[in-house]
Amino acid sequence: MIPTNPELPRPDPAWTFERLLPRLKDRFAGRLGPELWRVAETRLQRHFPHLFNGLRQLYGDQYDFFWHLEEIVATALAGLAERPDTLRQRDIEAETDAAAGRPWFIGNEQVGAVAYVDRWAGTLADIEARIPYLKKLGITYLHLMPLLRAREGENDGGYAVASYREIDPALGTMDELAALAETLRGHGIRLCLDFVFNHTADDHDWALKASKGDPWFQSYYRMYDDRMIPDAYQPHLREIFPDRGGENFLWKPTFGKFVWSTFYPYQWDLNFANPALFRQMLEEMLFLANRGVEVLRLDAVPFLWKQIGTNCENLPETHVLIQAFNALARIAAPALVFKSEAIVHPDEVARYIGTHEAQLSYFPMLMVLLWEALATRDTRLLRHGLAKRFRLPPGTAWVTYLRCHDDIGWGFADEDAAEIGINGHDHRRFLNSFYTGRYPGSFAEGIAFQENPRTGDARISGMAASLCGLGKGGAETHLAIARLIMLHGIILTIGGLPLIYLGDEVALTNDDSYLSEPDKKDDNRWTHRPRTDWKRQAAAIDDPTSPAHRVLAGLVRLIALRKAETVLHGQEMEIVGLQNPHVLAFLRGHADGERLLVVANMTERDQAVADAFLPGLIGAGPWTDLAGDEPLRWGAQGLVLTPYRLAVLRLASKPAERA
Ligand code: GLC
Ligand code: GLC
Repeated sequence: MIPTNPELPRPDPAWTFERLLPRLKDRFAGRLGPELWRVAETRLQRHFPHLFNGLRQLYGDQYDFFWHLEEIVATALAGLAERPDTLRQRDIEAETDAAAGRPWFIGNEQVGAVAYVDRWAGTLADIEARIPYLKKLGITYLHLMPLLRAREGENDGGYAVASYREIDPALGTMDELAALAETLRGHGIRLCLDFVFNHTADDHDWALKASKGDPWFQSYYRMYDDRMIPDAYQPHLREIFPDRGGENFLWKPTFGKFVWSTFYPYQWDLNFANPALFRQMLEEMLFLANRGVEVLRLDAVPFLWKQIGTNCENLPETHVLIQAFNALARIAAPALVFKSEAIVHPDEVARYIGTHEAQLSYFPMLMVLLWEALATRDTRLLRHGLAKRFRLPPGTAWVTYLRCHDDIGWGFADEDAAEIGINGHDHRRFLNSFYTGRYPGSFAEGIAFQENPRTGDARISGMAASLCGLGKGGAETHLAIARLIMLHGIILTIGGLPLIYLGDEVALTNDDSYLSEPDKKDDNRWTHRPRTDWKRQAAAIDDPTSPAHRVLAGLVRLIALRKAETVLHGQEMEIVGLQNPHVLAFLRGHADGERLLVVANMTERDQAVADAFLPGLIGAGPWTDLAGDEPLRWGAQGLVLTPYRLAVLRLASKPAERA
């Protein structure tokens, strides 16, 4: 046997920490000061083991691993040193709330909204001027769509980032952003920004240097001298934008490399197999966190890690990467929360969620199945999916939403559908046909996005109001308004953090003005990224007969209900197996405490909820509907819900008093 030298570095967190800590202390104790160094040391002690194991798994085979490790942790400590005092105070509160199992985002008083700075308000200064509007709506979380300096010309709505440290000059400056974040905080609104870290624009400084042949920056990207490696990857990759022709590797004759690009050709994938790139992205991330951003929407997370022979989505290393970033955020900026954007199979979506990974995640399956139930007038797939997949670990939450800036891809699980006798493939065909309005009798006015002639797949673009049929006019108007309010009622009461896509609250319909903009006309997602005309909007809101007025009034009432009912906090939710398949019903709250029953009619006909069912659930009546002024109607078969009515019922007495 060869004797091992006990002094050689062993892959052991405790051993490594013991040696690393004094080095970090030398470098940072002075800069941080004694009090903050103590904070740093406590956090390091807590998070280093997990971080070390993760980074070792990703980069442990590199000869200079320990050097990279030290530089990565040093970057976190530098971030902590630069963090403004107000945010450090916020960090302490976040740590206390997390330890108590009460992170802010599970609160029923939380309501999110998302908007484009330019299209919704104008500039960052104009956003500030709109704070009263947000407060009237009850918004406590504002996601501003990509606002960093983006690529010149086409830039995928800002998702082709040219600099993580500059704001698009048309919108404002980084100092203004930091000031805005603080002002928002003062009004009880947290700021969320995108962290687009799977790729940069091809005119990011790193990309430009790489294009000039600089090997350091070439190693930030996935670049190849010849087709050998690309050819090994390509057959396994999914086409995200089939319109571009199914090829993810671009030949760059000026510097003689193939460049990996998953999304648009001007978005170059970053190389997370390079620890130097990981460290660099940590620095960019903390730069944004230190400007007062409290939630980072982790864009396109499934694609971060690549491995030949796989489809390069949702690989185990991708999770390790996000967990490593999370551990570093706990050290440098604990108030920072991650929201994962994984638009993939529901099993895979769930794998990104955890206090050690992404505390928040979009819930695409709920979004998709709400639209599915609206089209089919049948809640069985929705119920089945929710009963199976709603539950999350403590300290995490779903972000519930109806629309966002992207297309709708029918991301329910085929096996869930099969379990209740639905063929997923055919069902998607039906849904596309329904939401493009091709299906006979459909009320929807969506547009097919990236229809793939080879596979027949498509996704759907369109504003919620248009998908609800508001553009049809006539008798449909009343129904469309009811649909829009009912769907929002579900995302506001079902649990998690609801996110309103601004424009939907005033029933904006599709906007085809993008067709005359050369850098947008080929991407019909712009149809649902409308510009707000505040004068027109104010006039519409003032007119009590307008859809804008009626939808806004409906939403304001539902938001007030959400904020008033503490049982709506958190994620405790139970689907009720009503016999009537046209009605969705779920219970909120704990079985041994106060509970609310939410019922929603997914059809344009009256629907009865069997009388026998209700008392067993929530005790004897009388019930009042917390969500509406119209009294509840009782027919021979029980409670009657008018078309698209959502009702929220509370027990007349508390369970303890019931017995
Ligand atoms: C995300 C964005 C989408 C964008 C893509 C590439 O999925 O939501 O709009 O096209 O990432 O960054
Ligand atoms: C795909 C990607 C998702 C992206 C979308 C853009 O669904 O998985 O990340 O948002 O395409 O259309």
